Amino acid sequence: MCGIVACRTSAPAVEFLLPALSRLEYRGYDSAGVALTARGRDALHTMRAVGRLAVLEDMVAMESPSPDLGIGIGHTRWATHGAVSEPNAHPHRDCGGAIAVVHNGIIDNADELRARLQSGGHRFSSEVDSEVIAHLVEEAYASCGSLVEAVRRAVHQLRGTWALAVTSANSAEVVLACYRSPLVVGSSETEHFAGSDMIAMIGRVAHVHVLQDGDIVELADHVSWTDMKGNQLTPRSPVTVDWDAEDAEIGVYEDFMEKEISEQPAVSARLLDRLLPGVANGLLWKNLALPSFRSIRFLACGSSLNAAAAAARVFRDVADIPARTIIASEFEEKVGGEVLTIAVSQSGETADIVSALRQVHGPVLLITNAPYSTLARGADAVIDCGSGPEIGVAATKTFTTQVIAGAALGLSAAAALGRSSGSEISQQALALAKVPDRLEAAHLTSFPVAHALAGELAQAPGFFFVSRGAGMPYATEGALKLKEITYRWCDAIPAGELKHGSISLIEDGTPVVVIDSGSPVRLHGAASEMATRGARIIRIGPEGSGAAFPVLADVEGPWGPLEGVLALQHLARSVAVALGRDCDKPRNLAKSVTVL
Ligand code: G6P
Repeated sequence: MCGIVACRTSAPAVEFLLPALSRLEYRGYDSAGVALTARGRDALHTMRAVGRLAVLEDMVAMESPSPDLGIGIGHTRWATHGAVSEPNAHPHRDCGGAIAVVHNGIIDNADELRARLQSGGHRFSSEVDSEVIAHLVEEAYASCGSLVEAVRRAVHQLRGTWALAVTSANSAEVVLACYRSPLVVGSSETEHFAGSDMIAMIGRVAHVHVLQDGDIVELADHVSWTDMKGNQLTPRSPVTVDWDAEDAEIGVYEDFMEKEISEQPAVSARLLDRLLPGVANGLLWKNLALPSFRSIRFLACGSSLNAAAAAARVFRDVADIPARTIIASEFEEKVGGEVLTIAVSQSGETADIVSALRQVHGPVLLITNAPYSTLARGADAVIDCGSGPEIGVAATKTFTTQVIAGAALGLSAAAALGRSSGSEISQQALALAKVPDRLEAAHLTSFPVAHALAGELAQAPGFFFVSRGAGMPYATEGALKLKEITYRWCDAIPAGELKHGSISLIEDGTPVVVIDSGSPVRLHGAASEMATRGARIIRIGPEGSGAAFPVLADVEGPWGPLEGVLALQHLARSVAVALGRDCDKPRNLAKSVTVL
């Protein structure tokens, strides 16, 4: 889960590569590097630095590479093989330093290839699997003299996953290849650009083409597409880049997380404008044209799993369809038969889901923010959440839009399958239509409350999140958000279960965030039991209820107290800021986890 970029431009390549890498930094931020060249140059200018991209930017400013270096590749790394160090940072080079490679993915047979190459005299300078690719290209180039052919011969020997960009000092071009790892390419007149994600290309091109498994693309004076056998391909259908430069800029906000929290009312309204017309009439569901099924399983990880749990409830409660959630990394295909799998993934690239879906034989519907991703290409139907780029590593707006998309689908399925009365569905659709306004109100109320609590809560070593029923996915999401970005332990527990163990951890001042949902009597009973033992109760409840965060609707939809997530996100962010954490790039985490 690294970010890769490449270009062949008439301007200095770093003018594209560095801003593009900064937009891809969510994919990895422990080291970064670029390799630059130009037509007629027989050398590469390579710069690599450990740490955030800013360190590489400083290095580029110091070394001030020649402005004619318009051909380049770049990488931002999230370490999987080998420690975080300069030799392990990409680009990796061949023995002579004339070929440079950036890679995202995992080469499963790297040890075997390395041993063979070493015994043939190749000298390695890093511990990472990706370096074998540079040496394989070197070996093939020596016999064929063509970079694109050398890359083709190299990838034939690889097992695993890859998105690659390769350049060489001797051939003014960049060659791209991909297999189960994302890569897009776009051109404007005579300039060509590539990146792991469309976001890298914002402002440069109006359309991109998404590489498919086995595609090999040569960026030279012209762009040529071939397959693994060398057959010419027509470029894949263009996809419009409908994100503005502004969508990927921080603007007036302190961090991307703050920006993305505040965007939730607007992105939810946009999504509902698209989905609601198909809810009460069942057309949203019918138009997916999925085969009949008896039950649903949601497959997801992290925040998407929590969103899936909220959505599954709508299918159960309103559409009367058995629906459960499964952690994608724990999935084992046991049941055959008529099961619909709904995968939920903001990135559409999560390896745990990709791997689980390989075992699935039935129909797959994907809810995602990346409709051209690996998962989207393999799904039978896709619902695009359309949240725009989410750059903060901790999911915020993508969580909310996943819940909304799941709820709209559940209601529409109930209408299409005749599982609920028309008036009940219309009433729920109306409640869903009010969500953006409720989110906006919750945002405005929660921000100052979270800010005021942050200093005190930053002292606490750990937190509990307690709710019941439809509130539990949000309690779990609140705990995940807080632990991701503050590095405090957090646990989410159904109220009734506290007394069976966890209550022993309550000490004077232990913060317990209570999300009102389900039966108020049991929830309030549990809250007072904890308060009696010294817990610091912070309630998220309806207006006028005396809750610290009075943000919930009086009557919640079957998707549960979604507005409460604004309070939970602000709380997590405010505590992280009070602790001096970088909430956009929390330690050890990446946004798009493409390894198992
Ligand atoms: C990573 C991210 C989480 C995300 C999870 C699932 O762990 O840090 O924020 O929820 O992956 O990602 P997905 O792209 O499948 O939603």
